[in-house]
Amino acid sequence: MGNKLISKEIQDYIHANLNTDLHTLLLKKSPFPEVSMQEIVQQIKGKQTAQKKFPFLLKEGIIFPPQLNLEQASSEKTALYKSQMLKGNKFIDLTSGFGIDAYYLSGNFNEVTLVEQNQQLLDIVKHNWAVLERDATFINQNLENFLDDDQEHFDCIYLDPARRDQNKNKVFLLEDLSPDILQIKEKLLSKGDQVIIKLSPLIDIKYLVSVLPEIFRIEIIAVKNDVKEAIIFLSSEKKDGIMVNCVNLESEESAFLFRFGEEEKSQVAYSEPEKFIYIPNNSILKAGVFNLISERSGLKKFHPNTHIYTSDQKITDFPGRVLEMEVVESKHIKKKESFNIISKNYPLKPEEIKKKYGIKDGGKDYLIFTQSKKGKIILKSV
Ligand SMILES: C[S@@+](CC[C@H](N)C(=O)[O-])C[C@H]1O[C@@H](n2cnc3c(N)ncnc32)[C@H](O)[C@@H]1O
Repeated sequence: MGNKLISKEIQDYIHANLNTDLHTLLLKKSPFPEVSMQEIVQQIKGKQTAQKKFPFLLKEGIIFPPQLNLEQASSEKTALYKSQMLKGNKFIDLTSGFGIDAYYLSGNFNEVTLVEQNQQLLDIVKHNWAVLERDATFINQNLENFLDDDQEHFDCIYLDPARRDQNKNKVFLLEDLSPDILQIKEKLLSKGDQVIIKLSPLIDIKYLVSVLPEIFRIEIIAVKNDVKEAIIFLSSEKKDGIMVNCVNLESEESAFLFRFGEEEKSQVAYSEPEKFIYIPNNSILKAGVFNLISERSGLKKFHPNTHIYTSDQKITDFPGRVLEMEVVESKHIKKKESFNIISKNYPLKPEEIKKKYGIKDGGKDYLIFTQSKKGKIILKSV
């Protein structure tokens, strides 16, 4: 499959159609007898995805897999971030997929092994890694069988399990993943100095720590305030607490590092809105350190369930948004004006607020609809 697709004529045709409507293209007959229009469209979708998600693959000779494998792959940005924490001699990715994580994470290792159950996908990765001039051992096997058969020891074992089903329930359990981490945990820990697992950020951290006591570090990774991944680090060695690091990539904000359990011991002060208003980034909100962020930064909180903070003096280097605002009465909100509307711990959603007050989305000013300990409040940028 690979060789046919990388011929100059077919690649030229793919390039010429990068912005063509793909539904229309699929109805046409392929101009090349050796490849179908579906195969061509798969390559176009691959290049389109690569432009945003993994631009390092916008290289001559690269082949792209079906949509699902593109969607399941990590982005270049998060993979690069994770790679900075790792180095050693032997690295193995047991759920290679399209190999984006493997490519970056193995950068500081001497020997690299990729395991993937999907033969066609692994063939594509093998082809691409040759184009990228990267060496690895590629193993097309079910990872459970590989773990039974193989006697090697690795410095680092990485897994990015697939969701077993397509249900989009917000909360899910480790048993819903393929592979089931709880089933293979002992084997993983006996074969690797450290085991690193990528999970959906929707997973509950307290649940994770309760079922996997071997966790010694958790990274919550957001990109431009969109939480993308939760990464857990496991080791069978005795640990001194669990460190949790929250990062917001592609922002100027510094990371927020804390010890699991610190939140429960931290003290919070409450206040009505003062001059400056702070909204932590979503990696911190995901970690649930609502009181600790207040204690560490010396900021006061509006209400136990409102994770918005305030101060009279401006705090620099807060990991989130900092706005200068004042309380406004609803009768002073003018119809047809444009605002960025934020609703937090407030009965109406932004859409409902827009309708109720006849206001529009956009502009540079903010309106925050929320609650302090005294009740509902509206804040407006000054
Ligand atoms: C989420 S994808 C990995 C994406 C990858 N991290 C990347 O950046 O491209 C998970 C992959 O694990 C593979 N997989 C799931 N269960 C497996 C198993 N038991 N043995 C081997 N591979 C498995 C799936 O076929 C899928 O390609």
